[in-house]
Amino acid sequence: MKIDVYFSPAQVDEMQLREKNVVVIDVLRASSTIVAALHNGAREIIPVSSVESAVKVSGNLFGDVVLRGGERNGKMIDGFNLGNSPSEYTEEAVKGKSIILCTTNGSVAMVRARYAKNMTVACFNNISSVVEFMEEINDDFSIVCAGQQSLFALEDAVCAGMIVKQLSDKDSLMLELNDAAVTAHVLYKTYNKNLLKMIKSCDHGRYLAGIGFEDDLKLCAEIDSVATVPMLAGSVIKVKKEAMRPSVGNPLGTTAEAVAD
Ligand code: MLT
Repeated sequence: MKIDVYFSPAQVDEMQLREKNVVVIDVLRASSTIVAALHNGAREIIPVSSVESAVKVSGNLFGDVVLRGGERNGKMIDGFNLGNSPSEYTEEAVKGKSIILCTTNGSVAMVRARYAKNMTVACFNNISSVVEFMEEINDDFSIVCAGQQSLFALEDAVCAGMIVKQLSDKDSLMLELNDAAVTAHVLYKTYNKNLLKMIKSCDHGRYLAGIGFEDDLKLCAEIDSVATVPMLAGSVIKVKKEAMRPSVGNPLGTTAEAVAD
């Protein structure tokens, strides 16, 4: 199994991810939010890369079964129902809803992977379940860290390193790692004793704490708090077992092209 880690989506384009198996990581906070939303019964997540697309895709179902979530500078976007804090995506708020998600880095990275053969979303909260899914697929994977404005983000790299570590512990797998995957593994070994401390001290963690989201850091540092594996099905992200069903309609009738902005 070849594992290629990319520390920023800027290092890889849509065509390089086409027909690949892809894991997108945005620990702070889009991946953690998606995992929370699906765990709490959201019907699906539709990642988009601009506010304009979010408005276009939500159309006239907005506010009923369709919610808009996301952030700019970490804060809820005007006219949206939800921000990008996993704590907002409670069962009461999201059960049965389609959520159009627009975030600065995370949803953009997911849109970039929209032509992947298999695309899943990882964070510390669902990491062992994602690793099991990778073992099941037993094929090469690209791990794309959402990073921060095309730059390296420590928390995503450490999460990628934890995936590498868990895969390398599996006797059934023979891994071939690119240099970034080796580096991510080294970073994981450096920081694994106190992930919360790492998250609190990284650039985006400090920023989020500064704008009042310190509690999110604790939530996002939890390892294996849920077993949800999100999976791209067409242009929507669903819980894996639903995504694998042969026909997966969605009330918006979106296609990959519809969100290709
Ligand atoms: C992003 O996509 O950049 C984020 O998830 C930012 C955040 O809300 O913390």
